[in-house]
This record gives sequence, C-alpha cells and structure tokens, in this order.
Amino acid sequence: MSQSFKALVVEDAGGAHKTSVQELGMDRLPAGEVTVRVAYSTVNYKDGLAVVHRGRIIRSYPMVPGIDFSGTVVDSQSPEFKPGEQVVLNGWGVGERHWGGFAQMARAKAEWLVKLPAGIGLKQAMAIGTAGYTAMLCVMALEDYGIKPGDKEVIVTGAAGGVGSVAVAILARLGHAVAASTGRPEQADYLKSLGARTIVARGDFDKPGKPLDAERWAGGIDSVGSQTLATVLSQVRYGGAVAACGLAGGTNLPATVLPFILRGVGLLGVDSVMCPRPRRQAAWARLAKDLPFDKLDAMTTVHGLDQVPALADAILKGQVRGRAVIDLG
Ligand SMILES: NC(=O)c1ccc[n+]([C@@H]2O[C@H](COP(=O)([O-])OP(=O)(O)OC[C@H]3O[C@@H](n4cnc5c(N)ncnc54)[C@H](OP(=O)(O)O)[C@@H]3O)[C@@H](O)[C@H]2O)c1
Repeated sequence: MSQSFKALVVEDAGGAHKTSVQELGMDRLPAGEVTVRVAYSTVNYKDGLAVVHRGRIIRSYPMVPGIDFSGTVVDSQSPEFKPGEQVVLNGWGVGERHWGGFAQMARAKAEWLVKLPAGIGLKQAMAIGTAGYTAMLCVMALEDYGIKPGDKEVIVTGAAGGVGSVAVAILARLGHAVAASTGRPEQADYLKSLGARTIVARGDFDKPGKPLDAERWAGGIDSVGSQTLATVLSQVRYGGAVAACGLAGGTNLPATVLPFILRGVGLLGVDSVMCPRPRRQAAWARLAKDLPFDKLDAMTTVHGLDQVPALADAILKGQVRGRAVIDLG
C-alpha cells in the first residue's frame, strides 16, 4: 500500500474556506473497517454545493468531499470484504461528515459498501454514480407504484443533468415513452440519442398553472422540485405517480392536494443517502441489467482531481451535461 495519497481537502479557517489538492499520509484516513484504493469519483449536484460551500453540506473540517467512489479493497477488517474486490459507495454522509471520494484512498464502514455487480466496471460505476443510482431508485419507485410502459409518456425533468440523463436512458430501455424536459434546447439531439421521444421546454413547467391540468403523463421523475414538480403533479394522469428526488430548481412545493385526492396520483420521495442496503444492492443489480452502457458512455466526460472546483461551479449553474467522472488513477 502506498504511504501517501492525493486528496482534495476543504479547510475552514475561521469561516474562510480553502480548497486544495494535498498529499496526505495514510495515517490521516478516518476510522473504518475497509480501506479502498479509489479508482473514480464523480461530481454530483451535492458535491457542487459542498465544494462551493453552499447549503451546509460539509459538517466537519478538514473534509475530503465526494459523496461517491468506486475502487478496489486493499485492506479489510470485515469478513464481508477481501482485498482485490471491487466496491462502490454512495452517500451515508460520505463527503459530508466522513471523508469521501475526491482522494486516491478512502476508508469506510463495511456496511456502507456495495460489491460491484458483474458487468459494471469501476469507471462505469462512477459514470453511473449517485446520480445514476438515484435515477434507478426513482424507476423502481414508479414500478412499485404500478407504472408500466404504455401509451402515455413518462416525463423526466432536469433531463440533461446527471439524474435526468440516466433516467431517460433507463426508462427508454425499459420500453417507456419518454418526454425529456430541459432548459437547454441545444441538448435536444443528445436527449433523443438517449431515448427521449419528446423534448419539452423547461418553461412549460416553471410558471404557475392550473391546480389540475389535462392528463398528460403516465408518471414522472423530477430532479428539479418547486414549481416544476407542482406543474408535473397537476398533469399526471389518474393513478400515475412522480418520483421526486431533487431540488435543482428550489426546495418549495407550490402545489394543491387535488392531484392526490381526485386522481390518486402518488408523490414518491426518493432518498439515496440513507437508503437501506438491500434496496441499494437491488438498484445496482438492476443497473447492470437495464442501463444501456453505450448510452452511459455517451453521457460521460472524464476529468482530473484538480478540475473538481470548476466542475462544482458548473454543475450548480446547470452547465454540466450528463455525468462528470473524476479519475483518481
Ligand atoms: N434524493 C437524493 O438522494 C438525490 C440523489 C442525487 C441527486 N439528487 C438531487 O437531484 C438533483 C439533480 O442532481 P444531478 O447530480 O443530476 O445535478 P445536475 O447534473 O446539475 O442536473 C440538474 C439539472 O436540473 C436542471 N436545472 C438546473 N437548474 C435548474 C433550475 N434553476 N430550474 C429548473 N431546472 C434546473 C438542469 O437540467 P436541464 O438543463 O436539462 O434543464 C440540470 O442539468 C439535485 O437537486 C440533487 O441534489 C438527490
């Protein structure tokens, strides 16, 4: 095992934050049963918030941000994991309370780790990342509610982002007719290449409308929140549902109860961070089976650790398309 490793460290000097790439000794790693050589991490929206110090994501300093990583076990005090095994970690407060994935080495509780299913490599695992795993949790939530491929479209909001891109690709692969809502009309061809049948302008959703509108969607996956989620809810058909996982457009929900009590519409909350392990394992197994990996490649760009601050800024401005992977090799 190497004696030192590179990490992106965020420090707090009396309220002034400093972010830098540092060379650290192995003795700096936090406590945990399993030590992992990190291969890849990724920049999710929450990583953007953490790195630019918005939304109080980081709870203790110094912190290595990065809410997810994939890598190879190099040391394990747990009978569950052996050196050489490939693992993925999403959430559990990693990159917030516990050092995360923007480092060449990480140490974590065994119960936080998921073994990579056959068919998903280390780079693909982070091309999926927390955004893609959350997209699959959203698909599973819609399925649990009884939403099946059919005549009406499923709407995906924030479609050109990370959650949105993976959601479009999975839903299309499963046979759903997919409508992709985006504020970037120049991404229409990209979204169609992922499987979207219809492109809808973000502006169709982000202004107040009727509390109950024409039944337009079989269901939805929403990563935007606020007025966008309220509008989608008002347009879901009888018995449909929306899986809500994001707040890119805001945290409020200016809606009425009418879609719920007159159409039996379901509002399904999706959390990836504390999601129980069996559900995570099921989501990763489903990703191995139902995600079209050629489409995943098309939505992924790869960057170095020193590019994380610029990517953090860009993702909060809605400028990152698809998934931004960080190569720690
Ligand atoms: N619940 C969970 O456990 C969980 C897990 C992962 C992510 N999330 C949340 O899901 C959201 C998406 O995450 P992500 O990593 O996919 O981020 P992302 O790549 O930045 O995607 C967000 C997308 O939302 C759209 N958008 C951005 N700002 C907007 C605004 N002001 N109004 C309307 N639309 C806007 C943009 O898509 P277009 O350009 O196509 O319009 C953007 O690409 C974030 O809020 C994140 O915190 C939650």
